[in-house]
Amino acid sequence: MTEPCVFTIFGATGNLARTKLLPALFQLDGAGRLPAGLCILGVGRRDWDHEAWRAYVHDLCCDFTGGELEKETWQRFSARLRFLSGDIREGDTYTRLRAAVLDDPGCPRNMVFYMALQPSAYAEVATRLAQAGLNREEGGWRRVVIEKPFGYDLESAEILEEKLHRHFAERQIFRIDHYLGKSMVQNVLVFRFANLMLEPLWNRNYIDHVQITHAETQGIAGRAGYYDGVGAMRDMLQSHLLQMLTLVAMEPPASLDADALRDEKVKVLRSIRPIPRTAVHAHAFRAQYAAGTVDGEAVPGYLDEPDIPPDSTTETYASLKLYIDNWRWRNVPFYLRTGKRLARDSSLIAIRFKHPPQQLFRKTHIEKLPPNWILMGIQPLECVRVEIQTKEPGLELRTQTTQLDAAYCGTVTNKLEAYEDLLLDVIENDCTLFLRYDEVRWAWEVVDPILKVWSTERDFIHTYPAGTWGPVEDHRLFDREDQEWRNLLHGGE
Ligand code: BG6
Repeated sequence: MTEPCVFTIFGATGNLARTKLLPALFQLDGAGRLPAGLCILGVGRRDWDHEAWRAYVHDLCCDFTGGELEKETWQRFSARLRFLSGDIREGDTYTRLRAAVLDDPGCPRNMVFYMALQPSAYAEVATRLAQAGLNREEGGWRRVVIEKPFGYDLESAEILEEKLHRHFAERQIFRIDHYLGKSMVQNVLVFRFANLMLEPLWNRNYIDHVQITHAETQGIAGRAGYYDGVGAMRDMLQSHLLQMLTLVAMEPPASLDADALRDEKVKVLRSIRPIPRTAVHAHAFRAQYAAGTVDGEAVPGYLDEPDIPPDSTTETYASLKLYIDNWRWRNVPFYLRTGKRLARDSSLIAIRFKHPPQQLFRKTHIEKLPPNWILMGIQPLECVRVEIQTKEPGLELRTQTTQLDAAYCGTVTNKLEAYEDLLLDVIENDCTLFLRYDEVRWAWEVVDPILKVWSTERDFIHTYPAGTWGPVEDHRLFDREDQEWRNLLHGGE
Protein backbone atom coordinates (compact mmCIF):
# COMPACT_ATOMS: atom_id res chain seq x y z
CA MET A 1 0.00 0.00 0.00
CA THR A 2 1.30 3.46 -0.85
CA GLU A 3 2.00 5.40 2.33
CA PRO A 4 0.92 9.02 2.57
CA CYS A 5 3.58 11.70 2.87
CA VAL A 6 4.07 15.43 2.86
CA PHE A 7 5.22 16.21 -0.67
CA THR A 8 7.23 19.39 -0.17
CA ILE A 9 8.06 21.47 -3.24
CA PHE A 10 10.86 24.01 -2.85
CA GLY A 11 10.42 26.54 -5.63
CA ALA A 12 6.64 26.13 -5.51
CA THR A 13 5.86 29.13 -7.70
CA GLY A 14 8.63 28.49 -10.24
CA ASN A 15 8.36 27.26 -13.80
CA LEU A 16 8.92 23.56 -13.11
CA ALA A 17 6.33 23.37 -10.35
CA ARG A 18 3.83 25.30 -12.46
CA THR A 19 4.25 23.48 -15.74
CA LYS A 20 5.11 19.96 -14.66
CA LEU A 21 4.93 19.04 -10.98
CA LEU A 22 1.56 20.44 -9.94
CA PRO A 23 -0.22 19.32 -13.12
CA ALA A 24 1.29 15.86 -12.65
CA LEU A 25 0.14 15.64 -9.02
CA PHE A 26 -3.31 16.85 -10.09
CA GLN A 27 -3.48 14.15 -12.75
CA LEU A 28 -2.35 11.48 -10.31
CA ASP A 29 -5.01 12.53 -7.86
CA GLY A 30 -7.64 12.45 -10.60
CA ALA A 31 -6.51 8.93 -11.47
CA GLY A 32 -6.95 7.90 -7.83
CA ARG A 33 -3.22 7.21 -7.41
CA LEU A 34 -2.40 9.53 -4.51
CA PRO A 35 -2.91 7.96 -1.10
CA ALA A 36 -5.45 9.51 1.22
CA GLY A 37 -3.81 12.00 3.55
CA LEU A 38 -0.97 12.96 1.22
CA CYS A 39 -0.31 16.71 1.50
CA ILE A 40 1.38 18.94 -1.05
CA LEU A 41 3.32 21.63 0.73
CA GLY A 42 4.54 24.50 -1.43
CA VAL A 43 7.49 26.48 -0.11
CA GLY A 44 8.12 29.85 -1.70
CA ARG A 45 9.01 33.43 -0.94
CA ARG A 46 5.59 34.89 -1.72
CA ASP A 47 3.68 36.17 1.24
CA TRP A 48 0.83 33.71 0.75
CA ASP A 49 -1.44 31.72 3.00
CA HIS A 50 -2.93 28.34 2.10
CA GLU A 51 -5.90 29.95 0.37
CA ALA A 52 -3.79 32.14 -1.92
CA TRP A 53 -1.75 29.09 -2.90
CA ARG A 54 -4.91 27.09 -3.58
CA ALA A 55 -6.23 29.87 -5.83
CA TYR A 56 -2.93 29.90 -7.72
CA VAL A 57 -2.92 26.12 -8.16
CA HIS A 58 -6.58 26.19 -9.19
CA ASP A 59 -5.80 28.58 -12.05
CA LEU A 60 -2.85 26.62 -13.28
CA CYS A 61 -4.84 23.37 -13.22
CA CYS A 62 -7.57 25.10 -15.27
CA ASP A 63 -4.93 26.24 -17.77
CA PHE A 64 -3.55 22.73 -17.89
CA THR A 65 -6.88 21.01 -18.48
CA GLY A 66 -8.13 23.80 -20.74
CA GLY A 67 -11.35 24.45 -18.82
CA GLU A 68 -13.14 24.51 -15.49
CA LEU A 69 -12.39 21.72 -13.04
CA GLU A 70 -15.01 19.32 -11.76
CA LYS A 71 -16.04 20.53 -8.32
CA GLU A 72 -15.45 17.26 -6.55
CA THR A 73 -12.07 16.67 -8.20
CA TRP A 74 -10.88 20.12 -7.24
CA GLN A 75 -12.16 19.88 -3.68
CA ARG A 76 -10.28 16.66 -3.14
CA PHE A 77 -7.07 18.07 -4.60
CA SER A 78 -7.24 21.47 -2.92
CA ALA A 79 -7.67 19.83 0.50
CA ARG A 80 -4.15 18.48 0.02
CA LEU A 81 -2.57 21.88 -0.60
CA ARG A 82 -0.64 23.83 2.03
CA PHE A 83 1.76 26.74 1.69
CA LEU A 84 4.73 27.85 3.74
CA SER A 85 6.04 31.30 3.00
CA GLY A 86 9.80 31.50 3.48
CA ASP A 87 13.22 32.02 1.98
CA ILE A 88 15.14 28.82 1.32
CA ARG A 89 18.35 30.58 2.31
CA GLU A 90 17.13 31.25 5.87
CA GLY A 91 17.34 28.70 8.67
CA ASP A 92 14.08 29.90 10.17
CA THR A 93 12.17 28.62 7.12
CA TYR A 94 13.25 25.08 7.94
CA THR A 95 12.42 25.42 11.62
CA ARG A 96 8.92 26.51 10.66
CA LEU A 97 8.72 23.76 8.06
CA ARG A 98 9.60 21.19 10.68
CA ALA A 99 7.03 22.58 13.10
CA ALA A 100 4.34 22.82 10.41
CA VAL A 101 4.73 19.14 9.63
CA LEU A 102 5.95 17.34 12.71
CA ASP A 103 3.92 19.26 15.28
CA ASP A 104 0.71 18.77 13.34
CA PRO A 105 -0.83 15.39 14.17
CA GLY A 106 -2.92 15.66 10.99
CA CYS A 107 0.21 15.58 8.78
CA PRO A 108 1.78 12.34 7.57
CA ARG A 109 5.23 11.57 9.08
CA ASN A 110 6.90 10.72 5.77
CA MET A 111 8.38 13.55 3.73
CA VAL A 112 9.51 14.15 0.17
CA PHE A 113 11.61 17.25 -0.49
CA TYR A 114 11.51 18.17 -4.16
CA MET A 115 14.11 20.70 -5.28
CA ALA A 116 12.42 22.59 -8.09
CA LEU A 117 15.14 25.19 -7.71
CA GLN A 118 18.18 26.67 -9.37
CA PRO A 119 20.84 23.93 -9.35
CA SER A 120 23.15 26.14 -7.29
CA ALA A 121 20.70 25.87 -4.36
CA TYR A 122 20.55 22.06 -4.04
CA ALA A 123 23.47 21.63 -1.65
CA GLU A 124 22.46 24.50 0.58
CA VAL A 125 18.86 23.31 0.91
CA ALA A 126 20.05 19.78 1.73
CA THR A 127 22.34 21.16 4.41
CA ARG A 128 19.67 23.38 5.90
CA LEU A 129 17.20 20.50 5.96
CA ALA A 130 19.75 18.51 7.93
CA GLN A 131 20.42 21.41 10.31
CA ALA A 132 16.73 21.37 11.12
CA GLY A 133 16.90 17.60 11.63
CA LEU A 134 14.70 16.99 8.61
CA ASN A 135 17.04 14.39 7.13
CA ARG A 136 16.57 12.08 10.11
CA GLU A 137 14.06 9.33 9.56
CA GLU A 138 12.34 9.64 12.90
CA GLY A 139 8.85 8.28 12.71
CA GLY A 140 8.83 8.26 8.92
CA TRP A 141 11.00 8.25 5.81
CA ARG A 142 12.65 11.28 4.15
CA ARG A 143 13.42 11.42 0.41
CA VAL A 144 15.03 14.21 -1.50
CA VAL A 145 14.52 14.67 -5.25
CA ILE A 146 17.29 16.41 -7.16
CA GLU A 147 16.55 17.86 -10.58
CA LYS A 148 19.02 17.99 -13.43
CA PRO A 149 21.54 19.32 -14.17
CA PHE A 150 23.25 17.60 -11.27
CA GLY A 151 26.19 19.99 -10.98
CA TYR A 152 27.59 22.36 -13.53
CA ASP A 153 30.42 20.14 -14.67
CA LEU A 154 32.25 17.06 -13.44
CA GLU A 155 33.98 18.81 -10.59
CA SER A 156 30.90 20.53 -9.21
CA ALA A 157 28.88 17.31 -9.56
CA GLU A 158 31.46 15.55 -7.37
CA ILE A 159 31.19 18.30 -4.78
CA LEU A 160 27.39 18.25 -4.81
CA GLU A 161 27.38 14.49 -4.44
CA GLU A 162 29.72 14.66 -1.49
CA LYS A 163 27.63 17.35 0.20
CA LEU A 164 24.37 15.45 -0.27
CA HIS A 165 25.92 12.36 1.23
CA ARG A 166 26.97 14.20 4.34
CA HIS A 167 23.31 14.34 5.29
CA PHE A 168 21.39 11.81 3.23
CA ALA A 169 21.92 8.12 2.52
CA GLU A 170 21.93 6.99 -1.10
CA ARG A 171 18.53 5.31 -0.73
CA GLN A 172 17.07 8.72 0.23
CA ILE A 173 18.37 10.50 -2.89
CA PHE A 174 16.34 10.46 -6.10
CA ARG A 175 18.20 12.05 -9.04
CA ILE A 176 15.48 12.65 -11.55
CA ASP A 177 15.69 12.72 -15.35
CA HIS A 178 12.11 13.11 -16.50
CA TYR A 179 12.85 11.62 -19.92
CA LEU A 180 13.04 8.22 -18.25
CA GLY A 181 9.41 8.64 -17.25
CA LYS A 182 8.23 9.07 -20.84
CA SER A 183 6.34 6.08 -22.03
CA MET A 184 8.08 5.97 -25.42
CA VAL A 185 11.50 6.17 -23.81
CA GLN A 186 10.58 3.13 -21.73
CA ASN A 187 9.30 1.58 -24.93
CA VAL A 188 12.87 1.56 -26.28
CA LEU A 189 13.62 -1.19 -23.78
CA VAL A 190 10.48 -3.13 -24.60
CA PHE A 191 11.00 -2.79 -28.35
CA ARG A 192 14.58 -3.99 -28.08
CA PHE A 193 14.32 -6.71 -25.49
CA ALA A 194 10.85 -8.11 -26.09
CA ASN A 195 11.45 -8.69 -29.81
CA LEU A 196 14.04 -11.29 -30.63
CA MET A 197 14.09 -10.50 -34.33
CA LEU A 198 15.82 -7.17 -33.70
CA GLU A 199 18.77 -8.42 -31.74
CA PRO A 200 20.82 -9.83 -34.66
CA LEU A 201 20.50 -6.51 -36.48
CA TRP A 202 21.21 -4.23 -33.55
CA ASN A 203 24.92 -3.68 -34.04
CA ARG A 204 27.73 -2.30 -36.17
CA ASN A 205 27.23 -4.92 -38.90
CA TYR A 206 23.85 -3.54 -39.94
CA ILE A 207 23.41 -0.11 -38.44
CA ASP A 208 24.97 2.81 -40.27
CA HIS A 209 24.34 5.41 -37.60
CA VAL A 210 21.92 6.51 -34.86
CA GLN A 211 20.36 9.93 -34.41
CA ILE A 212 18.69 11.28 -31.29
CA THR A 213 16.91 14.59 -31.71
CA HIS A 214 15.08 16.81 -29.30
CA ALA A 215 13.65 19.79 -31.13
CA GLU A 216 11.31 22.29 -29.56
CA THR A 217 9.59 25.39 -30.87
CA GLN A 218 9.50 27.19 -27.55
CA GLY A 219 12.23 29.56 -26.50
CA ILE A 220 13.53 29.87 -22.98
CA ALA A 221 10.03 30.49 -21.65
CA GLY A 222 10.95 33.21 -19.15
CA ARG A 223 13.71 31.12 -17.59
CA ALA A 224 16.61 33.45 -18.42
CA GLY A 225 18.01 33.29 -14.88
CA TYR A 226 18.39 29.54 -15.10
CA TYR A 227 19.06 29.04 -18.78
CA ASP A 228 21.73 31.58 -19.50
CA GLY A 229 24.06 30.01 -16.96
CA VAL A 230 23.39 26.53 -18.27
CA GLY A 231 22.83 26.29 -22.04
CA ALA A 232 21.58 23.43 -24.19
CA MET A 233 24.47 21.05 -23.55
CA ARG A 234 23.89 20.98 -19.79
CA ASP A 235 20.13 21.49 -19.94
CA MET A 236 19.29 18.63 -22.33
CA LEU A 237 22.25 16.80 -23.77
CA GLN A 238 24.23 15.79 -20.71
CA SER A 239 21.07 14.36 -19.16
CA HIS A 240 18.05 13.50 -21.32
CA LEU A 241 19.77 12.77 -24.61
CA LEU A 242 22.61 10.74 -23.14
CA GLN A 243 20.05 8.76 -21.18
CA MET A 244 18.19 7.95 -24.39
CA LEU A 245 21.47 6.93 -25.96
CA THR A 246 22.19 4.48 -23.15
CA LEU A 247 18.83 2.78 -23.69
CA VAL A 248 19.40 2.42 -27.42
CA ALA A 249 22.95 1.14 -27.00
CA MET A 250 22.96 -0.94 -23.80
CA GLU A 251 23.35 -4.69 -23.55
CA PRO A 252 20.38 -6.68 -22.22
CA PRO A 253 20.41 -6.31 -18.42
CA ALA A 254 20.48 -9.36 -16.16
CA SER A 255 17.05 -8.32 -14.87
CA LEU A 256 14.91 -5.23 -14.67
CA ASP A 257 16.12 -4.47 -11.16
CA ALA A 258 17.21 -0.90 -10.65
CA ASP A 259 20.86 -1.81 -10.31
CA ALA A 260 21.01 -4.32 -13.13
CA LEU A 261 19.60 -1.70 -15.50
CA ARG A 262 21.84 1.05 -14.25
CA ASP A 263 24.93 -1.16 -14.45
CA GLU A 264 24.32 -1.61 -18.18
CA LYS A 265 23.69 2.10 -18.73
CA VAL A 266 26.94 2.95 -16.97
CA LYS A 267 28.81 0.47 -19.17
CA VAL A 268 27.63 2.36 -22.25
CA LEU A 269 28.65 5.73 -20.85
CA ARG A 270 32.05 4.40 -19.85
CA SER A 271 32.60 3.04 -23.35
CA ILE A 272 32.02 6.37 -25.06
CA ARG A 273 35.24 7.37 -26.78
CA PRO A 274 36.61 10.44 -24.95
CA ILE A 275 36.73 13.58 -27.04
CA PRO A 276 40.15 15.21 -26.81
CA ARG A 277 40.16 18.99 -26.58
CA THR A 278 41.75 19.21 -30.02
CA ALA A 279 38.82 17.28 -31.56
CA VAL A 280 35.99 19.20 -29.91
CA HIS A 281 35.08 21.09 -33.07
CA ALA A 282 34.90 17.91 -35.09
CA HIS A 283 32.53 16.37 -32.55
CA ALA A 284 30.39 19.17 -31.20
CA PHE A 285 28.58 22.22 -32.46
CA ARG A 286 26.74 25.00 -30.69
CA ALA A 287 24.57 27.85 -31.86
CA GLN A 288 22.06 30.40 -30.63
CA TYR A 289 18.71 31.39 -32.12
CA ALA A 290 18.34 34.72 -33.85
CA ALA A 291 14.99 36.40 -34.51
CA GLY A 292 12.67 34.51 -36.81
CA THR A 293 9.18 33.12 -37.25
CA VAL A 294 7.79 30.18 -35.32
CA ASP A 295 4.34 28.82 -36.21
CA GLY A 296 3.65 31.99 -38.19
CA GLU A 297 4.56 34.29 -35.33
CA ALA A 298 7.55 36.63 -35.24
CA VAL A 299 9.75 35.88 -32.25
CA PRO A 300 12.82 37.68 -30.89
CA GLY A 301 16.33 36.29 -30.94
CA TYR A 302 17.88 34.89 -27.78
CA LEU A 303 19.83 38.05 -27.07
CA ASP A 304 16.60 40.06 -27.13
CA GLU A 305 14.84 37.83 -24.61
CA PRO A 306 14.22 39.59 -21.27
CA ASP A 307 17.15 39.41 -18.83
CA ILE A 308 19.65 37.91 -21.28
CA PRO A 309 22.96 39.81 -21.34
CA PRO A 310 23.49 41.35 -24.78
CA ASP A 311 26.84 39.60 -25.24
CA SER A 312 25.77 36.14 -24.07
CA THR A 313 27.27 33.21 -25.98
CA THR A 314 25.07 30.62 -24.25
CA GLU A 315 24.06 27.95 -26.75
CA THR A 316 20.39 27.24 -27.40
CA TYR A 317 21.33 24.50 -29.85
CA ALA A 318 23.92 21.80 -29.34
CA SER A 319 24.84 18.78 -31.39
CA LEU A 320 27.33 16.06 -30.80
CA LYS A 321 28.88 13.06 -32.51
CA LEU A 322 29.87 10.17 -30.27
CA TYR A 323 31.37 6.72 -30.74
CA ILE A 324 30.88 3.85 -28.36
CA ASP A 325 34.00 1.74 -28.28
CA ASN A 326 32.63 -1.72 -27.63
CA TRP A 327 32.01 -4.85 -29.70
CA ARG A 328 28.49 -3.91 -30.63
CA TRP A 329 28.99 -0.32 -31.68
CA ARG A 330 32.57 0.36 -32.61
CA ASN A 331 32.73 3.04 -35.33
CA VAL A 332 28.96 3.58 -35.55
CA PRO A 333 28.39 7.30 -35.09
CA PHE A 334 25.69 8.43 -32.68
CA TYR A 335 24.53 11.93 -33.57
CA LEU A 336 22.69 13.84 -30.83
CA ARG A 337 21.16 17.28 -31.06
CA THR A 338 18.82 19.54 -29.19
CA GLY A 339 17.57 23.01 -29.87
CA LYS A 340 15.10 25.66 -28.82
CA ARG A 341 13.05 27.70 -31.29
CA LEU A 342 13.37 25.08 -33.99
CA ALA A 343 10.85 24.50 -36.76
CA ARG A 344 8.73 21.86 -35.01
CA ASP A 345 8.37 20.03 -31.74
CA SER A 346 9.90 16.66 -32.38
CA SER A 347 11.72 14.18 -30.18
CA LEU A 348 12.87 11.28 -32.23
CA ILE A 349 15.25 8.35 -32.14
CA ALA A 350 16.17 7.46 -35.71
CA ILE A 351 18.24 4.41 -36.55
CA ARG A 352 19.56 4.19 -40.08
CA PHE A 353 20.61 0.88 -41.55
CA LYS A 354 23.41 0.25 -44.02
CA HIS A 355 22.82 -0.33 -47.71
CA PRO A 356 22.56 -3.95 -48.87
CA PRO A 357 26.00 -5.28 -49.84
CA GLN A 358 25.11 -5.71 -53.50
CA GLN A 359 23.24 -3.17 -55.66
CA LEU A 360 21.10 -5.86 -57.34
CA PHE A 361 18.69 -3.42 -58.90
CA ARG A 362 21.27 -1.15 -60.53
CA LYS A 363 20.23 -2.00 -64.10
CA THR A 364 16.55 -1.39 -63.46
CA HIS A 365 14.58 1.83 -62.95
CA ILE A 366 15.79 1.84 -59.39
CA GLU A 367 18.86 3.97 -59.19
CA LYS A 368 19.66 4.20 -55.54
CA LEU A 369 17.69 2.49 -52.86
CA PRO A 370 16.93 4.52 -49.78
CA PRO A 371 18.17 2.74 -46.67
CA ASN A 372 15.95 1.18 -43.99
CA TRP A 373 15.15 3.19 -40.90
CA ILE A 374 13.73 2.35 -37.51
CA LEU A 375 12.09 5.42 -36.02
CA MET A 376 10.89 5.88 -32.49
CA GLY A 377 8.79 8.99 -32.08
CA ILE A 378 8.98 10.09 -28.46
CA GLN A 379 6.78 13.18 -28.80
CA PRO A 380 4.50 14.77 -29.82
CA LEU A 381 3.50 11.60 -31.69
CA GLU A 382 4.29 8.34 -29.98
CA CYS A 383 5.21 5.88 -32.65
CA VAL A 384 7.41 2.98 -33.61
CA ARG A 385 7.93 2.92 -37.37
CA VAL A 386 10.03 0.78 -39.67
CA GLU A 387 10.75 2.02 -43.18
CA ILE A 388 11.35 -0.63 -45.82
CA GLN A 389 11.46 -0.68 -49.61
CA THR A 390 8.74 -2.45 -51.58
CA LYS A 391 7.89 -2.66 -55.27
CA GLU A 392 5.51 -0.09 -56.64
CA PRO A 393 2.46 -1.70 -58.23
CA GLY A 394 2.74 -1.72 -62.03
CA LEU A 395 4.84 -3.12 -64.86
CA GLU A 396 8.08 -1.34 -64.09
CA LEU A 397 10.48 -2.41 -61.38
CA ARG A 398 10.36 0.66 -59.18
CA THR A 399 10.47 0.86 -55.45
CA GLN A 400 8.63 2.88 -52.89
CA THR A 401 9.32 3.50 -49.24
CA THR A 402 6.71 1.72 -47.17
CA GLN A 403 6.18 2.54 -43.53
CA LEU A 404 5.27 -0.17 -41.08
CA ASP A 405 3.76 1.49 -38.06
CA ALA A 406 2.86 0.13 -34.68
CA ALA A 407 -0.93 0.31 -34.60
CA TYR A 408 -1.10 3.14 -32.09
CA CYS A 409 1.07 5.51 -34.13
CA GLY A 410 -0.50 8.93 -34.19
CA THR A 411 -3.46 7.92 -32.09
CA VAL A 412 -1.94 8.48 -28.67
CA THR A 413 -2.17 12.02 -27.45
CA ASN A 414 0.37 12.37 -24.80
CA LYS A 415 -1.78 13.52 -21.90
CA LEU A 416 0.06 11.60 -19.23
CA GLU A 417 3.46 13.21 -19.05
CA ALA A 418 6.64 11.77 -17.70
CA TYR A 419 6.40 13.33 -14.27
CA GLU A 420 3.31 11.40 -13.18
CA ASP A 421 5.13 8.13 -13.36
CA LEU A 422 8.24 9.41 -11.64
CA LEU A 423 6.53 11.27 -8.80
CA LEU A 424 4.63 8.12 -8.01
CA ASP A 425 7.90 6.19 -8.03
CA VAL A 426 9.34 8.58 -5.44
CA ILE A 427 6.31 8.14 -3.21
CA GLU A 428 6.43 4.36 -3.69
CA ASN A 429 10.21 4.17 -3.26
CA ASP A 430 11.04 2.71 -6.67
CA CYS A 431 14.37 4.09 -7.88
CA THR A 432 14.63 2.10 -11.12
CA LEU A 433 14.02 5.14 -13.30
CA PHE A 434 16.25 7.46 -11.29
CA LEU A 435 19.93 8.01 -11.88
CA ARG A 436 22.67 6.50 -9.83
CA TYR A 437 25.54 8.89 -9.27
CA ASP A 438 27.98 6.98 -11.48
CA GLU A 439 25.65 7.55 -14.46
CA VAL A 440 25.68 11.27 -13.81
CA ARG A 441 29.42 11.26 -13.36
CA TRP A 442 30.16 9.39 -16.58
CA ALA A 443 27.78 11.62 -18.50
CA TRP A 444 29.77 14.62 -17.28
CA GLU A 445 32.97 12.87 -18.39
CA VAL A 446 31.53 12.80 -21.91
CA VAL A 447 30.62 16.47 -22.20
CA ASP A 448 33.19 18.08 -19.90
CA PRO A 449 35.94 18.53 -22.53
CA ILE A 450 33.45 20.24 -24.83
CA LEU A 451 32.20 22.58 -22.15
CA LYS A 452 35.76 23.47 -21.21
CA VAL A 453 36.66 24.43 -24.78
CA TRP A 454 33.41 26.33 -25.30
CA SER A 455 33.95 28.26 -22.08
CA THR A 456 37.17 29.68 -23.49
CA GLU A 457 35.49 30.77 -26.74
CA ARG A 458 33.36 33.59 -25.48
CA ASP A 459 33.47 36.02 -28.40
CA PHE A 460 31.59 34.14 -31.12
CA ILE A 461 28.69 31.75 -31.53
CA HIS A 462 26.91 30.64 -34.71
CA THR A 463 23.28 31.62 -35.01
CA TYR A 464 20.21 30.16 -36.71
CA PRO A 465 16.93 31.89 -37.48
CA ALA A 466 14.18 30.90 -35.04
CA GLY A 467 11.71 28.57 -36.73
CA THR A 468 14.30 26.67 -38.80
CA TRP A 469 15.90 23.29 -38.19
CA GLY A 470 19.04 24.85 -36.75
CA PRO A 471 22.42 25.93 -38.08
CA VAL A 472 23.34 24.43 -41.44
CA GLU A 473 27.01 24.53 -40.47
CA ASP A 474 26.66 21.59 -38.12
CA HIS A 475 26.51 19.23 -41.10
CA ARG A 476 30.24 19.10 -40.66
CA LEU A 477 29.69 16.60 -37.86
CA PHE A 478 28.51 13.90 -40.27
CA ASP A 479 31.03 11.28 -41.24
CA ARG A 480 29.75 10.94 -44.80
CA GLU A 481 27.81 12.98 -47.32
CA ASP A 482 24.89 10.58 -47.43
CA GLN A 483 24.19 11.17 -43.73
CA GLU A 484 21.90 14.01 -42.77
CA TRP A 485 19.53 14.95 -39.99
CA ARG A 486 16.23 13.18 -39.93
CA ASN A 487 13.88 15.79 -38.50
CA LEU A 488 10.51 14.12 -38.37
CA LEU A 489 8.84 10.75 -38.40
CA HIS A 490 7.84 11.21 -42.00
CA GLY A 491 10.86 12.08 -44.13
CA GLY A 492 11.18 14.90 -46.63
CA GLU A 493 11.10 17.91 -44.29
C1 BG6 B 1 13.77 20.27 -19.37
C2 BG6 B 1 14.62 21.41 -19.84
O1 BG6 B 1 14.54 19.37 -18.61
O2 BG6 B 1 13.25 19.60 -20.48
C3 BG6 B 1 13.82 22.35 -20.72
O3 BG6 B 1 15.12 22.12 -18.73
C4 BG6 B 1 13.16 21.59 -21.84
O4 BG6 B 1 14.63 23.38 -21.23
C5 BG6 B 1 12.41 20.40 -21.29
O5 BG6 B 1 12.26 22.46 -22.51
C6 BG6 B 1 11.88 19.53 -22.40
O6 BG6 B 1 11.09 18.53 -21.82
P1 BG6 B 1 9.83 17.96 -22.58
O7 BG6 B 1 9.33 16.91 -21.67
O8 BG6 B 1 8.88 19.11 -22.74
O9 BG6 B 1 10.36 17.46 -23.87
